[in-house]
Amino acid sequence: MKKQACITGGTKGIGKAVAFALGQAGYDLLLTYASDDDAAGKVCKELQQEFPVEVRVLRADITDKQSVDVIYQYLTAHHLRLDAVVFNAGLTCRDSFETVRMDDWERVFFGNVHFPVFLLQRIAGLLNGGGSVVFTGSLMGVHPHSVSLAYGVTKSAVHALVKNLVKFLSPYEIRVNGVAPGFVDTEWQKGKPADIRRNIENKIALNRFCDPAELAEAYRMLIENRYINGEIVVVDGGYSYK
Ligand SMILES: NC(=O)c1ccc[n+]([C@@H]2O[C@H](COP(=O)([O-])OP(=O)(O)OC[C@H]3O[C@@H](n4cnc5c(N)ncnc54)[C@H](OP(=O)(O)O)[C@@H]3O)[C@@H](O)[C@H]2O)c1
Repeated sequence: MKKQACITGGTKGIGKAVAFALGQAGYDLLLTYASDDDAAGKVCKELQQEFPVEVRVLRADITDKQSVDVIYQYLTAHHLRLDAVVFNAGLTCRDSFETVRMDDWERVFFGNVHFPVFLLQRIAGLLNGGGSVVFTGSLMGVHPHSVSLAYGVTKSAVHALVKNLVKFLSPYEIRVNGVAPGFVDTEWQKGKPADIRRNIENKIALNRFCDPAELAEAYRMLIENRYINGEIVVVDGGYSYK
């Protein structure tokens, strides 16, 4: 029987690359996104041209509580059960420690931590035994040097969440892992000025940003391997060793 995966933030960047990796592995896909309908329509077409899989896209902003219901209701209305869930969509707030507002701090926490917890709570019963959940963490959650305090702290929380969830998902026979990417060439990074990008590259042992497709292989491995559970796989090109 065909397998089904849901990827939040699945229409661009890392999520899109994971969608291609899972499409190649034969998964039907539900990709959520925030607001860019054109990009969502385009990725849907590209995937269906390349692989014999069914692809659905759904607007569901992770900063909005109602998106938990939107996703749950979409899954049940279409009689979809899931074999893989990738909690990938995330956000940041680059205000300094001195100026960050509590509302913005809460928004980052809601999107990066609260939203996946309560979405998972709602859809756990729709996951097939033997299935897998993968979170997108960050190198910034391992080495605390993010320019955004809220981002670094929430990504550390995502890593802790992965480990704490293992025992709560084991009755469902679901494994849970995380990927902590270093610097990946997505829109998120492409906007950075050239000198800042060069500074970053100089700190990476491989001297370059990660291609999203290279990173996506780690997600596919975590989803397909039957024994890895509770791990955070760091994919940073050797950032910490230079
Ligand atoms: N790029 C890196 O270097 C890097 C490193 C470490 C961790 N990460 C993490 O990787 C994840 C994806 O980042 P990326 O670089 O792939 O970003 P990206 O290229 O900007 O892609 C963002 C994707 O997420 C969706 N999205 C953004 N905000 C959302 C929201 N509020 N609600 C629902 N969906 C939303 C976007 O939908 P729309 O197009 O509709 O906005 C799009 O599909 C994030 O969790 C980020 O923290 C990235």
